[in-house]
Amino acid sequence: MDNPPDHSTSSPGALSGLGRHALLPLRLFLGSTFVYAGLDKLADPHYLGGLADPASMAAQAHAVAAHSPIGGLLGQAVHSPTPVGLAMAFGELAVGFGTLLGLWGRLAATGGALISLSLWLSVSWGVHPYYLGNDLVYLMAWTPLVLAGTPQFSLDGLIAGRARGTATGRGRRQVLVDGGIATLAVAGMALLTGAGVARTRGKAPAPSAGAGAGAGTGTGNGTGAGAAGATGTAVAAAAAVPVGGVLRVSAPGSGDPVYLQQPKAGQYTALSGVCTHSGCTVNPPKDGRFVCPCHNSCFDAGTGAVLQGPATEALARFGITRSGDQLHLGAES
Ligand code: FES
Repeated sequence: MDNPPDHSTSSPGALSGLGRHALLPLRLFLGSTFVYAGLDKLADPHYLGGLADPASMAAQAHAVAAHSPIGGLLGQAVHSPTPVGLAMAFGELAVGFGTLLGLWGRLAATGGALISLSLWLSVSWGVHPYYLGNDLVYLMAWTPLVLAGTPQFSLDGLIAGRARGTATGRGRRQVLVDGGIATLAVAGMALLTGAGVARTRGKAPAPSAGAGAGAGTGTGNGTGAGAAGATGTAVAAAAAVPVGGVLRVSAPGSGDPVYLQQPKAGQYTALSGVCTHSGCTVNPPKDGRFVCPCHNSCFDAGTGAVLQGPATEALARFGITRSGDQLHLGAES
């Protein structure tokens, strides 16, 4: 039986041999990364939280909205965190599975590029110099797949091959039906996987719950009782920062994120949440350290000192005093 002519190697400029698979590693990486990113969001108990949870998607969107060219769109994420957050997570899953399996590959790559574009214009927009913002790199990485699609080792390639080998209209209709079934099967797999992971996630602790009762907020210990000499602007109720807890607020004037903590009863600290490397917002403290999501700098949660670069300067500190039941933020030092 004659083999069909291989047009991919017959024209002078066509890629041959290994070159035909040049985009496969990129496709595997982007597909698996987007599946992981979608599942990671759905498994995170903080992700769909409201503004009061500093680790939520809404709080992060709120933090970058003022400096983003798509700040208006980010307002939607702030006001409707659940539908926007779910759309984002399941969108990443659909893009990831579509890319890995090569089903509607060009469409999946376009979706991936749009997600990366929106992240670049928001989360990475403040990163300087621009080439350190990883979302711009993802946007560029999607471009070859948008242009080339996923013709090899893919359901797209399988369906196209069957369509080419079918001479009758009935046969072509059957290929279309098979393509539709494959699309529904992959969409169902993405939905079931995402929903299954979402069901396993725990409940995020309330920012001021629990420890607040023992926090000394009403007993006048430490900085609290007198209320005399409070300087700066009131930014939070003292009860919102329990012993061992953290609360993210905005610095009066600049609006920059500031993390308030009470490591010991009556002792408060206020550290800037702006990474000194390139200006990303560091994540809330965990295991005694702040970690910057942009390039992984780490800072001591108590002092703000650099534990790991590329940042070389400590997080800025603010003066903080308690007056009655209010915490006042002073000058940055
Ligand atoms: S902005 Fe680069 S490590 Fe924080």
